[in-house]
Amino acid sequence: MNILEQIRKEHPWLEANRAFDLRRGKPSNLQLDTTQSILETIETQFHMDGIDLRNYGEPQGIPSARALGAEILGTNANETIALDNASLTLMHQTLACAYFLGFKASKIDNVSKILCPAPGYDRHFKLIENFGIEMITIPFQDDGPDLNAIEEILKKEKNVHGIACVPRHSNPTGHTYSDENVKSMFKMFSALNNNFMILWDNAYACHDLKNTIEQTNANSLAKEFNLEDNLFQFGSTSKITLAGSGISFLSSSTKNLEAFIEYRNGLAVGPNKMNQGLHVEYFKKIPIKKQMQKMKEILLPKFEITKNYLNILKENNHGDFSDPTGGYFFSYDSNKPNCHEIIDNCKQLNLKLLPAGSSFPYNNDPENKNIRIAPSFPENDELEKSMKILTSVVKHLN
Ligand SMILES: Cc1ncc(COP(=O)(O)O)c(C=O)c1O
Repeated sequence: MNILEQIRKEHPWLEANRAFDLRRGKPSNLQLDTTQSILETIETQFHMDGIDLRNYGEPQGIPSARALGAEILGTNANETIALDNASLTLMHQTLACAYFLGFKASKIDNVSKILCPAPGYDRHFKLIENFGIEMITIPFQDDGPDLNAIEEILKKEKNVHGIACVPRHSNPTGHTYSDENVKSMFKMFSALNNNFMILWDNAYACHDLKNTIEQTNANSLAKEFNLEDNLFQFGSTSKITLAGSGISFLSSSTKNLEAFIEYRNGLAVGPNKMNQGLHVEYFKKIPIKKQMQKMKEILLPKFEITKNYLNILKENNHGDFSDPTGGYFFSYDSNKPNCHEIIDNCKQLNLKLLPAGSSFPYNNDPENKNIRIAPSFPENDELEKSMKILTSVVKHLN
């Protein structure tokens, strides 16, 4: 009997036409329904902050939405702008502005290299790769990117013009950077501050599920190390309210924000202010903390289910995993260089996982062992079954 036959025999509930999916970190239907129940009570606003939301204009976002972004990111409203639905688009536009026009202290070109702590967010890597920018993989230490690795790279490589980080509940490892780690990094980067972009994607700024260390806001640390014109901090409400239809935020120095708005004025005649108004009203009904508590009640049990199964693998020496205290992901490392085989066998049992190497620049997992797990979307019983498939495959292969 081959592995697949054995597993099908162990789990008679595996039917050919039943699909399981742990690929993307989407909010579950229950999360979206929870948000919808509040959205339904909101009356549409056509004016806010003395601004006509129906018309063009206000390219930096309406003041109340900027204040909301500042609250989420822990920044100042005058150093935070509020735009459209995707922080990923904002990051793309920021990089494009650095590429085509240049910011005061960040100019990207086709010889530029960007440091990429990995395992990291696959879409960041795709975005950077699309600009033809070389990515340099940086491993992690416990409390953030590996400082020795960064130091070594900076000693030997020219044209290192940036870094892409997810500083809290990093996707997918869950790393939350300590202040000490960030200060040491920023100290190294301060020597490069005439041309360096710190792409600080704080997508999970307020997504704690368990106790997580406090962090000093990166904007104030950047100021301490003369990097205020180098830091670009991103966030959005995608994983707070509705994914893909929220608002996104960029925080940077006022000089950078002015340059960015100048650039963006060639792309759109202002953001979707009606949606900004809707979100401002939403958080008048329910404060961010309370909203995140509701999301936590739905997400935390899924994290516990995932952790229980990964723990079994760990106890049997079948690999290791990160134990995130928030965010949307888990990162599992097989004890053998066989993630392709695991992913392929799962696929044949109708469990979809991201392709091998997805969490690394150029899809190149140097040890061929990493698998990202996104437990947020499936219902709990579906998640249990998905994890049963994954763990059975690993147990048979390893
Ligand atoms: C680190 C990170 N940044 C950005 C995003 C996407 O955010 P947005 O919907 O604001 O583009 C995600 C989604 O998974 C993410 O994990």
